[in-house]
Amino acid sequence: MSFRTKIAETAKKKKTRIVLALDFPYQNPENRPTLLTKAQQVLEAVHPYICAVKINHHLTLPLGTFNGTQQLINNIHARGLPAIMDCKANDIGSTNQTIAEYYYAAGFDALIANPFVGWEEGLQPIFDVAHKQQRGVILLAYMSHKGAAEGYGQTIYNSETGRKTPQYVSFAKKALKWNADGVVVGATVPEKIAEIHEILGEKVPIYSPGIGAQGGAAETAVKAGARYLIVGREITLAQNPTEIAVKLSSLQTA
Ligand code: XMP
Repeated sequence: MSFRTKIAETAKKKKTRIVLALDFPYQNPENRPTLLTKAQQVLEAVHPYICAVKINHHLTLPLGTFNGTQQLINNIHARGLPAIMDCKANDIGSTNQTIAEYYYAAGFDALIANPFVGWEEGLQPIFDVAHKQQRGVILLAYMSHKGAAEGYGQTIYNSETGRKTPQYVSFAKKALKWNADGVVVGATVPEKIAEIHEILGEKVPIYSPGIGAQGGAAETAVKAGARYLIVGREITLAQNPTEIAVKLSSLQTA
């Protein structure tokens, strides 16, 4: 089963579109066991209310890809959830390929990549590996932070068409052409979600981070066309993560 189908079925069955970003602030590396325990506890507390887990460097750096992170991925899978690596792969093709092979070998079902590097000798090798192994590739289209305007929001000149277009529109079109499994568009820019949704329709789902801690609103993002909501600190740093996850998942039925 493809990654895209796996997450769609999980979301439908559990009636939630929340992707948990399992992020925690820096801790002294000596506290690695505590960090792993904390991550397991949050997963345990919220797994009924989420449709996937996204892991970032917050965990892979201190825990190691094939040590603590892999243990965590096994637990995520045991809960019937797919695991996404937010590595924003952004290098030359041969390096990208190795990055993807390691993350997929660790058990990740999908990874996030940056379309700025282009297709040939850029992201093509990741897509080749991913689709051979039935894994997913999700592309950045417009990030959730303010500075995103400088790159994802810039106007570019397309020498093939002779037209000027916003960078994120070009990335959305590439996501369609490259058969990406999703695009990331910040919940902080709902007007961009709507514009990108116009281009993608239901063919490529929109993943939207930036809820809560970064100021984005879940309902607005969904109304604009986001299929999945990526939520981190709002849940992981909450006094009661279950309560927040229940609230967010009940607001947003898939
Ligand atoms: P918070 O705590 O802000 O965490 O809910 C969000 C998580 O998502 C990551 N993030 C992004 N990832 N494109 C991405 O691929 C983005 O535009 C983006 N914005 C936030 C962030 O690093 C954290 O893991």
